Amino acid sequence: MTTFHNQTVLVTGGTGGQGASHVRAFHAAGANVVIGDIDTERGATLAAELGERARFVRLDVTDESSWAAAIAAAEQTFGPVAVLVNNAGVQNPPAVIEDTDLRTWARILDINLTGAFLGIKAAAPALRRAGGGAIVNIASTSGVGGTAHYAPYVASKWAVRGLTRTAALELGRDNIRVNAIHPGVIATPFITEPAAGSDAPISDFYSPDPFAVPRLGEPADVTRLLLFLASSEASFITGSEYVVDGGLLLGPALKHEAA
Ligand SMILES: NC(=O)c1ccc[n+]([C@@H]2O[C@H](COP(=O)([O-])OP(=O)(O)OC[C@H]3O[C@@H](n4cnc5c(N)ncnc54)[C@H](OP(=O)(O)O)[C@@H]3O)[C@@H](O)[C@H]2O)c1
Repeated sequence: MTTFHNQTVLVTGGTGGQGASHVRAFHAAGANVVIGDIDTERGATLAAELGERARFVRLDVTDESSWAAAIAAAEQTFGPVAVLVNNAGVQNPPAVIEDTDLRTWARILDINLTGAFLGIKAAAPALRRAGGGAIVNIASTSGVGGTAHYAPYVASKWAVRGLTRTAALELGRDNIRVNAIHPGVIATPFITEPAAGSDAPISDFYSPDPFAVPRLGEPADVTRLLLFLASSEASFITGSEYVVDGGLLLGPALKHEAA
């Protein structure tokens, strides 16, 4: 079984639907876990639930000084960060490009893309001090194709792919691997609650029924892949991207009776 004993793991958006799943799994695998998020109440509750080897730090991924403080707090408490999961992300309210205002565009790119850039920038020296480690960027199947009404989100996730590959090249010789995961539609508040400024959540108009695995993804589906990529078992894997989407990107599957 994969273990992360004596390793410091920082998960951004660590109180969210997927983030909390990742945090719990790393903790169960022996890691010292730092929960980075903007939601102080949820963060304190999760850290208290996990107890020893867990700490919450308020981290706004768009703020460089917030990153510096989080990386320092992690190192002071547990030792240098060896695994960074750039998981924090937000969705834009659905709108065609012509109706998308610049402020919305900038906000989504700021959190989803600049947040990951600042994370890599701030964490890389710590990962070197840890003797190497892994960075995993949570992108999206939206970063592989196009999705009408979600231009800011799609563009941000496409850009995370380029950031991932570039960071992998820059950091490989320091024994730091950088990979990306593309989740499909995962049952979290991200799809069950409306994006800021919109009326309807994605779950109101999305159905997994046509796809090869006709169910919503669970956070654990992503977590299992994440722990593998972050572990030494994946020591020959870097600059790569992994889809975990139940066949969403394959397109509709034939109905059983028609096959
Ligand atoms: N769920 C899906 O279907 C799906 C599919 C593909 C990819 N993803 C990606 O998976 C990642 C996790 O999403 P999720 O499904 O777990 O969504 P979620 O439940 O909404 O979690 C996102 C977390 O990020 C936090 N966050 C927002 N802005 C932040 C900031 N500036 N700094 C730090 N944290 C911030 C959120 O806090 P608040 O709740 O306070 O805003 C929340 O805790 C995201 O990158 C998302 O794009 C999700």
